[in-house]
Amino acid sequence: MKYLIGIDLGTSGTKTVLFSEDGIAICSATEEYPLYQPNNGWAEQDPADWWNACISTVKKVFSDSGVNPKDVAGIGFSGQMHGLVMLDEDGNVIRNSIIWCDGRTADECAEITRRVGESHLVDITANQAVTSFTAGKILWVRNHEPENYKRCRHILLPKDYIRYKLTGKFGMEVSDASGMNMLDIHERIWSDEVLKALDIDSELLPDVGESSDIAGAVTAEAAALTGLTEGTPVVYGGGDNAAAAVGTGVVEKGKAFITIGTSGVLYAHTDSVAIDADGRINTFCTAVPDSWAVFGCTLAAGMSLQWLRNNFFQAEMDTAKGLGKDPYTIMTEQAERIPIGANRLIFLPYLMGERSPILDPNARGVFFGLSAIHTKYDMLRSVMEGVIYAQKQCLDFHRAMGIEFNEIYATGGGGTSPLWRQMIADIFELPVVTIQNREGPALGAAILAGVGAGLYPSIPEACKRIIKVNDPQLPIAKNTNEYAPYYKLFRDLYPSMKENFQTLAKL
Ligand code: XUL
Repeated sequence: MKYLIGIDLGTSGTKTVLFSEDGIAICSATEEYPLYQPNNGWAEQDPADWWNACISTVKKVFSDSGVNPKDVAGIGFSGQMHGLVMLDEDGNVIRNSIIWCDGRTADECAEITRRVGESHLVDITANQAVTSFTAGKILWVRNHEPENYKRCRHILLPKDYIRYKLTGKFGMEVSDASGMNMLDIHERIWSDEVLKALDIDSELLPDVGESSDIAGAVTAEAAALTGLTEGTPVVYGGGDNAAAAVGTGVVEKGKAFITIGTSGVLYAHTDSVAIDADGRINTFCTAVPDSWAVFGCTLAAGMSLQWLRNNFFQAEMDTAKGLGKDPYTIMTEQAERIPIGANRLIFLPYLMGERSPILDPNARGVFFGLSAIHTKYDMLRSVMEGVIYAQKQCLDFHRAMGIEFNEIYATGGGGTSPLWRQMIADIFELPVVTIQNREGPALGAAILAGVGAGLYPSIPEACKRIIKVNDPQLPIAKNTNEYAPYYKLFRDLYPSMKENFQTLAKL
């Protein structure tokens, strides 16, 4: 029996899963790490935390499973996207990574648009300059920390840094590189024109491969640290959403998934480049050669619930610990007792500003309609509903672009909550399907490794063999009707507060 390893480098932690060659999860290990917020709206992580979490979780899956590392046919990655990792000439990290949900680069995004020209930028990279993306972060370091920029010799994305530590090789792949504002999305190569306009030396960037291509092999040094066998093949892997698409079987036109992890993403596979010229939803290369995806990203989806949990649900966290339960399971049971509409309370989930579709780094979270009648349980329900309303706004843009799908696959931590899934079914008016193997992005990463190692002929063939779905959760018409006026009000709230958010940001 051969095995595959999927390493999912997330924002709250790294999860490593050991799979059999049939895609069955044998063993998994997770290690969490902090998110630093040195300023309101900023977000950074320490790449050393990612690497340490990778080492300890890989070691743990071997010690817990007893599997012989020699039987691992390949290793793949799923990585939080967009984070800027800058290395000096010796491969040392220069500063903490400025990650995807950091909103500090509004001025640099304007600079990118000015230097490249808005329509040109969209024609080439398929996307507007937005604060999540990496080019703005590179320019920010150049503008604000010129000493750090001067020392920089290599630019990588988060999972590429981990791959570099495992293989000693610099590399990137198309799905993650799509989120940098520098890739020619049509040709799947760096755009010389954009790099020139931004005055970024192409030598700083590694070559880009396809997600299931072999990128290198585990070095002796990394083998000694992790317990892996020297020489084990390592593929490029994918950005977390591209990997989740593979892990849910969303690898052909007409299929889409929603994930509620730290961010929330509504992602539809396409077989040609479809672009929203105003950049309200994004277009990236997928992990499948010759295909693309259109997706909307809510920056603080699971993060909103985590924020609420950490600040208001300490008692439930303690109870959950005592019972050996997940605190979110207890919280979901409490949210279920609150009626649709949370007793007339609406939450705007803009804790880190917002990307799709409002594109406003200065937006901030709002509980609208808070009254003395409300309890923290109403707030809980309104947070869960607000996250799905935000995703429904993205769905409206998919529909406007003519991107159709008749059901939606649910993954990510939020996808394991039956209540959240029912909200998706009711608010989207679509059947919600889950996958029997719940590992989503880690499974996608392992499938990419299996294709690279020659265990499967192609990504779609591997998905056909491995991915099995459960019965769908169907929309309930009565609920859909009850949510409708709340969703309409949700949509109207941001435009009515837009100017005030800008004023607040200047205080
Ligand atoms: C996608 C995005 C997020 C991060 C979070 O564009 O910004 O989904 O990848 O992990």
